[in-house]
Amino acid sequence: MSAEKRKTLEIFELLLTAEIYNRSENLTEDDLPPKIRKYYFDPVIKGVERPLRVTLKAVEKISGVERIRQIIEENPLVVFHEIGFHLTLMDFEEGAQWFATQRPLYLIKGNPVLAYFYEKDDSMNVSYAEVREQNQPFSADRELIEAKIRKLCADKKEAEDLLKLATIKAPEDVRDRLDDLILTAEQREEIAKAGKALEYRQYLKDVGLYEIGKLLLVGPPGTGKTSTARALSRWFGLPLVEVKLSMITSHYLGETSKNIDKVFLLAKELSPCILFIDEFDFVAKTRGSDDHGALKRAVNTLLKAIDEVSLVEHGVLLIAATNYAQLLDYAAWRRFDKVLGFSRPDAEMRCKILDKVLDRMDAEVDAPKLAELTEGYTGSDLRLVVREAVLNALLQDRKKIDQDDLLRAVEQFERRISDHRQNYNAPADQ
Ligand SMILES: Nc1ncnc2c1ncn2[C@@H]1O[C@H](COP(=O)(O)OP(=O)(O)OP(=O)(O)O)[C@@H](O)[C@H]1O
Ligand SMILES: [Mg+2]
Repeated sequence: MSAEKRKTLEIFELLLTAEIYNRSENLTEDDLPPKIRKYYFDPVIKGVERPLRVTLKAVEKISGVERIRQIIEENPLVVFHEIGFHLTLMDFEEGAQWFATQRPLYLIKGNPVLAYFYEKDDSMNVSYAEVREQNQPFSADRELIEAKIRKLCADKKEAEDLLKLATIKAPEDVRDRLDDLILTAEQREEIAKAGKALEYRQYLKDVGLYEIGKLLLVGPPGTGKTSTARALSRWFGLPLVEVKLSMITSHYLGETSKNIDKVFLLAKELSPCILFIDEFDFVAKTRGSDDHGALKRAVNTLLKAIDEVSLVEHGVLLIAATNYAQLLDYAAWRRFDKVLGFSRPDAEMRCKILDKVLDRMDAEVDAPKLAELTEGYTGSDLRLVVREAVLNALLQDRKKIDQDDLLRAVEQFERRISDHRQNYNAPADQ
């Protein structure tokens, strides 16, 4: 397809989407593709107001198409209105028909509004339900999330305080991917169950099953707990509210309880979303000590908030992660309906992790052999080893790495670990 033709089709996509959306009251913001929705998003009403008008600026911003006037001047089906600088179709039916004859399935399959319209056309073979299922929902848009944070906080200072305790991300801004993680069958199954619980929330409510949706990830450092929790945001297309418990100690404690409550309130506001509490062992540590009255109060507020939030009622999937299972007392444990173990990977998993990390590199290595040699290594250790091998090769201006590079990196890693143990007299394992 020529570049010119592609641009024309993109202009038509926008014109048709606007027209169909304006005409069909039963279509919602969730039906608009994010690129279009984000342009028309109004932060005051926190939504998209009808009618959508296709201005020159809208086409430029949404599709990045330049020289629009020239393209439309050559197309008799599009009218340019000098007043308001906007475009419309000369005749909707005719425009829609012309678009269909071009068979732009790549556009229709990424746009629920178009799929809704063209589903009637058997020759198109497109399912509105399927296309909508694939479309990022409105609740996950960065713009909406930011508007909700602003609404919850009276001023900038309040928002800053809140954001000290929690990082909030739209799934589109999360870097971790589930596909990059090698997980056990049990871990995959639990993730799938959490997804289903979110999907069938109403059903679970109807049958009275409320004790679902609080997951505790437990395992030694570097086994993928944080990455998994974050990757789920992307995987499920849900906003991520990540609480940094270590921040509780580092700013004015009197305000902390209030801010914890606000984080949970925000999570409910952003629903459906994931609320991820990392470094959960912090709870156990403070509960065990006698001093720090204010700190203890903050932790108790946190535990109470955890009790009160629910996936079934509020659409909040709660995930906590900790290194030290043995530190957590029963009071903390019982709040989770599922404890999911993250162990050090076995040889087969180590091999898969190595394959995954090396995937995009020019590498000639014997991964099974390396997996054998790296007994006890975590996913994080393996990533480190590969990084070292890459850097060693780059020192010689080589981008290709081989088995020797990796073997050397393993040796360096072993040396570093043993130095560290000698210097700090650290135990061999936690
Ligand atoms: N099973 C795995 N598959 C692929 N990569 C992994 C795996 N486990 C860990 N990694 C990689 O190791 C790095 C560190 O992982 P992560 O931070 O998730 O560990 P963690 O369990 O949260 O550790 P900590 O307890 O220290 O916080 C990440 O880059 C992650 O991608
Ligand atoms: Mg972590």
